Amino acid sequence: MKLMAKYYRIEDAKIGKDTIVRDFVNIYGCKIGDKCRIAAHVEIQRDVTIGDRCKVEAYAFIPIGVTIEDEVFIGPHVCFTNDKMPKAVGGWKMTRTLVKKGASIGANATIVCGVTIGENALVAAGAVVTKDVPAGAIVAGIPAKKIGSRAKDKKKPAKGRGRK
Ligand SMILES: CC(C)(COP(=O)(O)OP(=O)(O)OC[C@H]1O[C@@H](n2cnc3c(N)ncnc32)[C@H](O)[C@@H]1OP(=O)(O)O)[C@@H](O)C(=O)NCCC(=O)NCCS
Repeated sequence: MKLMAKYYRIEDAKIGKDTIVRDFVNIYGCKIGDKCRIAAHVEIQRDVTIGDRCKVEAYAFIPIGVTIEDEVFIGPHVCFTNDKMPKAVGGWKMTRTLVKKGASIGANATIVCGVTIGENALVAAGAVVTKDVPAGAIVAGIPAKKIGSRAKDKKKPAKGRGRK
């Protein structure tokens, strides 16, 4: 790990080689692979696994129950969840979420727990994902629906997807 931070809480976490971690993170009990970038103000909780070469942008919230494979992009302010019916008092039931290799999640998206986001899928900025996202699909909106497919060049989606 290359800790490029002055203020942080990192406890009991396995963080891989050449992974850069920035300031104000709260990272504990989790496993993060090699060559990742973890931006400022990110929370990654116990038992989360993140693969190699992932990028997690500022203010992302990744709670227990989330598994992220290799080469996944998590945009700024992305919010995962892990309890479908949360309440302040009493127990809670964890529901897991899986993000598969090469997927990208746009800024400010919310991932309601219990879904799988398929390989190379792209979740649009501001989407609320409530169902599984097929591999290579682009989904957008609330609730997120398929608006297109990811171009062969995974990093640059084709123009005009979603037009009727
Ligand atoms: C979804 C996305 C990939 C679509 O990009 P695109 O293929 O270039 O699509 P366009 O901009 O041509 O828009 C196509 C249609 O989808 C709509 N659209 C675009 N982004 C949308 C979004 N985030 N939510 C809902 N609708 C969206 C457009 O309004 C347009 O609708 P129309 O056909 O009715 O005019 C892109 O807008 C997006 O959200 N990317 C994620 C950006 C991000 O969060 N990056 C994080 C790094 S900071």
